[in-house]
Amino acid sequence: MANNQVEEVKSKTDIVSLISEYLELKKAGRNYKANCPFHGEKTPSFFVSPELQIFKCFGCGASGDVFSFLERHESMEFSEALKYLADRVGVKLKLYKPHETSQKEKIIEMNKNALNFYQYALTQHKSGEKALNYLLKNRGLSLDQIKKFKIGFSPDFSSALIEYLEKKKKISQSDLVLGGLAVKTRKGVIDRFGGRIIFPLFDHRDNPVGFSGRVLPWDRREAGKYINSPETPAYHKSKILYGLNISKNEIRDKGFAIIVEGELDMISTYSAGFRNVVAIKGSALTEDQIRLLGRFCKKMILCLDADFAGDEASKRGAILASNFGFDVKVAEIKNYKDPDEIARKNPNEFKKILSNSKSIWDFLIDQVFAKFKNLKGETKAVISREITPLLALIEDKIVQSHYMDLVARRLSVSIEAVEQEVLKENKNKNSEKVAAIERLDEKKDRRQLLEEAVFANLILSKDDLFFDQEIKQLITTPFVKRTYDLICQKIKKANKLDIKEILEILPDEFKKGFSDIILSVSEKEDLNILIKELKILDIRQSLEKLAGEIREQEQSGNDTEVSRLQNIFTQLAEKLSKLEEES
Ligand code: CTP
Ligand code: MN
Repeated sequence: MANNQVEEVKSKTDIVSLISEYLELKKAGRNYKANCPFHGEKTPSFFVSPELQIFKCFGCGASGDVFSFLERHESMEFSEALKYLADRVGVKLKLYKPHETSQKEKIIEMNKNALNFYQYALTQHKSGEKALNYLLKNRGLSLDQIKKFKIGFSPDFSSALIEYLEKKKKISQSDLVLGGLAVKTRKGVIDRFGGRIIFPLFDHRDNPVGFSGRVLPWDRREAGKYINSPETPAYHKSKILYGLNISKNEIRDKGFAIIVEGELDMISTYSAGFRNVVAIKGSALTEDQIRLLGRFCKKMILCLDADFAGDEASKRGAILASNFGFDVKVAEIKNYKDPDEIARKNPNEFKKILSNSKSIWDFLIDQVFAKFKNLKGETKAVISREITPLLALIEDKIVQSHYMDLVARRLSVSIEAVEQEVLKENKNKNSEKVAAIERLDEKKDRRQLLEEAVFANLILSKDDLFFDQEIKQLITTPFVKRTYDLICQKIKKANKLDIKEILEILPDEFKKGFSDIILSVSEKEDLNILIKELKILDIRQSLEKLAGEIREQEQSGNDTEVSRLQNIFTQLAEKLSKLEEES
């Protein structure tokens, strides 16, 4: 791939308009900001710079250009991101050869073919007759639903799929194994999903990345009810929300998602008119799924099987979502087996259940209280022991204090007593956090931050002072100093201090550090004030150093040196007080 085409695509793409298709960007001085999509936060530390054409999160450190944004945010591979953006800006990629398609793309292509085959087998071929009957009669699906969700069937114990893909589509057996469609056995390569109803698994951009196969009820083989694609370059279990490709617009419009367990729950719920629904396929919500969903809404109603309350992993997933800023509610299904059944048999009741859903914290707290009948002294202590770890998990301080208050009232104890218990619980967790933050701050001390601010503002305001030797000598942090020197070697005039131009003359290994410094200045600051501050700091630090030297010389009785140093000290101290007076 010609490198200049990559550059061409990049230069024709505006990072601000690209990212604003995914996030709500707000203007912040010279930059734009948003809540970071890559970690949970409630105040924005994710910045996009139109000048630098990069994004950077000061919270989690994620940073990069248009390609890396798509790679991370859309789980695209580089070649995919390149093709996507090239299309968008109308660049024809010349040197693009088919053999350069990535493994992921190859698997998706292969899956498309398999999907057609499976669909044909279910709806057109005799081999799928019984399975089709089961879906229509026993599971209450319609042909429309089968089409919409592209449900299929893999003929029993046959190598039909493999033969079809090999002969008609020229796909090798080893590729079929790589893509997870086939498995190697002693008897040769066979269809992984043989004899099963097939639910294709799409990513949110409609790519069939994998499959899920359900046994038919009369199947007597010793095998799991469901078999899923293995992890492949295209399929990552933890990143899929079943049905999102179909329901994402409704989720965005309604502002919340109904989360159900399985494929059939999703399909029935959707078909009963609750279109903002996705399924998590029987496992607990993962961080990846929460992030993915977070791009479409900030609220969810968990409508999971009855054992949600007893399942630690499920609860952890829900709490994670809450701490990612989601408003998480729990809807409890009673009298029906699962969302599939209730949605088909009694949509009105389902609606009621959804509107009666409780906040996750209310739900979890109620659950603890429900275990105890009376609220005598000892029981209170037991309840408190179970509830405080929960309360300690609430990251939002306002929400937390609301629930501390609520629990205190329910136990008829003072809120201080509850607070104290939570505080104890928090102590260990917090001391770790504080230490981490301090370490982060240690990396850049005040001097370095100030030097960077001076340096960046000199450039941004294209100020002649940039070439002033006295100012240049104030810059001591190795990276800033080195970059400063490099720029001075190539650029001789203040009006040539252009960020794009500087990026071109800087060696690659300096580009990122330089961009970070420029990006950290969101509003231009008053250069004179900054410079004065830096000068003051510089003198203070020199004075501290001098004081130490004077003490040493005094101890070794070196009087002449002591008085020499004291002279310098006095001069510097005078200079300092003058500067301080001015400001
Ligand atoms: N699941 C799975 N692997 C299993 C069992 C279940 O991946 N061995 C996932 C599937 O995505 C399934 C979901 O968990 O859709 C819920 O399971 P279940 O309710 O047992 O599936 P249904 O097909 O709805 O079963 P039933 O007909 O009993 O309602
Ligand atoms: Mn079910």
